Amino acid sequence: MLDIRSDLSNRDFVAALPKVELHVHIEGAIEPVTLFEIADRNKIELPYDSPEGVLAYQSDRRGAGRENLVSFLECLDISRDALRTPDDYRTITVEFLSRCGREGVRYVEVMFDPQQAIRQGVSFGDCVDAIADGRRVGWRDFGVRSQAIMCFQRDHDPEQASRLIEAADTHRDDIVGIGLDNFETPGFPAMFRAAYDQARQREYRLTSHCDVNQPDSADHIRACIEVLRVERIDHGLNVIDDPALLDLVLERDIALTGCPTYYTGQASSAEIRLEMHRSLLAAGACISLNTDDPAQFGSGWLSNTIWSAMEAAPFTRADIVRFTQNAIDAAWIDEAHRRELTTELRAFSGGYGEASVPAG
Ligand code: HPA
Ligand code: ZN
Repeated sequence: MLDIRSDLSNRDFVAALPKVELHVHIEGAIEPVTLFEIADRNKIELPYDSPEGVLAYQSDRRGAGRENLVSFLECLDISRDALRTPDDYRTITVEFLSRCGREGVRYVEVMFDPQQAIRQGVSFGDCVDAIADGRRVGWRDFGVRSQAIMCFQRDHDPEQASRLIEAADTHRDDIVGIGLDNFETPGFPAMFRAAYDQARQREYRLTSHCDVNQPDSADHIRACIEVLRVERIDHGLNVIDDPALLDLVLERDIALTGCPTYYTGQASSAEIRLEMHRSLLAAGACISLNTDDPAQFGSGWLSNTIWSAMEAAPFTRADIVRFTQNAIDAAWIDEAHRRELTTELRAFSGGYGEASVPAG
């Protein structure tokens, strides 16, 4: 048993921590070198000089005073636009899970955007199959278990979302849940009510992005809980600004998948975001730490994301263990798997001191 009171550095501690991730987009996890290879074979011209230029380009764009989520998604579009074949999706899934293996990630729920794939000439079925195939390789070759969450884009046709939920009936075992991402269209939850009703009838697990500090953030979170009846919110940090909403989240046990280094390049707000994570943890919310889009946006892979948050906040090791247990508790897995992950985490963290924030 590893005693985390020992002289491990924080980096070693995070590297050895058995990790779980619930909020990461496969299209945002393309290693720059792979992005160049894929773009090359699909004859797509990238606006970067080299793989090293990917982050630099994105930092420049972010510095141009654009609104965070919008400039972030415009940059993401450049990368995900290069994906044109089922093999591209398989390749990035295998590579991502290989990376998870090296990071010590035991289990990951990975999001994908089928509407994006379809617009780029990859059929729905081929996209789902390619990711499922990549996930099988991830388990067989790297020992990383994973499930896929199908996300619909909030700025695209909700009826297409409904049609895709029907199309997914023949791929039911390869998709664990449904989410919503992309631009935060005003009033989006009501638009997707029918799609979420269909998904609930089919017993999909339900989540939705509610990005940080968007117009109407609190209203969107409330509507996702009450209208779409989600079990989790991706980001959702603005819960902390609204005591009645916080009560609702605690009462319904809604999990929040936080991304502490999200948009770090634009980071006038990074400290505030960390504070929001701390306050939510202190309030007893089931909040976890995740990467979101690790390859392209400076958040880094999961160990780096956790370590950076830990140093900057700062969080204690016990806090990090709590965030990790929250991820295990909120994961869409069966109870035997949850017990297995919990047992491994407890063996790792055995007897370590109190969290810096008291349990809520
Ligand atoms: N928010 C909205 N859309 C996204 C995100 C996000 O965090 N990541 C990838 N697409
Ligand atoms: Zn996201």
